[in-house]
Amino acid sequence: MPKPSLLEQLNYIAKEADSQLESAASEADIESWRVAYLGRQGRLTMLLRNLSSLPIDDRRVVGLEANRVKKLLEEKLNGRQQALKEAGYSRSLLEGGIDITLPGRPMAIGRLHPTTRILREILEAFTSMGFSVLEGPEVEWEHYNFDALNIPSEHPARDMWDTLWVDWADPSSQERNMLMRTHTSPMQARVMENNEPPIRVVVPGKCYRYEASDATHEWHFYQVEGLAVDTGITFADLKGTLYQFAKRIFGQDRQIRFRCDYFPFVEPGVDMSIDCFSCNGKGCRICKESGWIEILGAGMVHPNVLQGVGYDPKKYTGFAFGMGPERIAMLKYGIDDIRHFYTNDLRFLNQV
Ligand code: DAH
Repeated sequence: MPKPSLLEQLNYIAKEADSQLESAASEADIESWRVAYLGRQGRLTMLLRNLSSLPIDDRRVVGLEANRVKKLLEEKLNGRQQALKEAGYSRSLLEGGIDITLPGRPMAIGRLHPTTRILREILEAFTSMGFSVLEGPEVEWEHYNFDALNIPSEHPARDMWDTLWVDWADPSSQERNMLMRTHTSPMQARVMENNEPPIRVVVPGKCYRYEASDATHEWHFYQVEGLAVDTGITFADLKGTLYQFAKRIFGQDRQIRFRCDYFPFVEPGVDMSIDCFSCNGKGCRICKESGWIEILGAGMVHPNVLQGVGYDPKKYTGFAFGMGPERIAMLKYGIDDIRHFYTNDLRFLNQV
């Protein structure tokens, strides 16, 4: 029988390697297969060593074919290794003690910030009564923050708001001063300038003051401003609206009390208190034994403010109010220090 040619031998080795690899069932099997065929003493390698004995033309043909077979076998080896690995994974999933019926681990998800929560509650109370929600700039002109609110420069009431001024040079030579708004009241004038009555808006937003912080004062905090202007609005509308609001936030049994207070942009000006929800008015630590808790400032919009935006104060009247949502949240949720709100301590934030 003539000796099979190198090409035939190659062909034979390729086929044999193929079927051997199919039956390799473990990583060890695969490794011995690799040694047997592709290793340094392997059958393919040995065969290639004989190439040099061939005539030059045959050498090229067989050489090409041998490399093709080598490459093919290497690819198959990789494929087989991969398949075995995957089979191993699924087996260990089935047998390896992973109980897929166990409940998953809970994921730590975020939650609403206490300020966001109370803001939403407050705004909902007013939108349910027909108010719209609007926002305004935190960097404001002196004009809107003060003058338009009946607080001209040199007016002593400016001391009520320690102000952070913004350094800037006005290229228009109007010498307008810029500041961080000290309250949300400037939006009263902005809203009236851009709209005709009837107006019913609430304005949530951040405010800034140049002052030291302590348990009840922060240098930045939120306010919610309210404004209603129309023909025939009276103090009774103010009372009714804010009474509704107080009951909605602090409970249906709440009573309210108004006392005279001074804010330059309202006349008369008042502060509103609710009877203490903790002791029902008997006197306790929360209401400082008075039975009452002050929750906001309010009043009838000052005629000067109406006139300033071009409204006729003989035709239109309105009421305004302003409150600190952090203070409302502190009362409602029993938080003892306003500085907790913005120090980002998760032990605080996670409680809400
Ligand atoms: N802007 C006032 C403040 O920051 C709060 C306030 C009081 C707003 C009375 C009002 C109001 O609209 O009528 O102290």
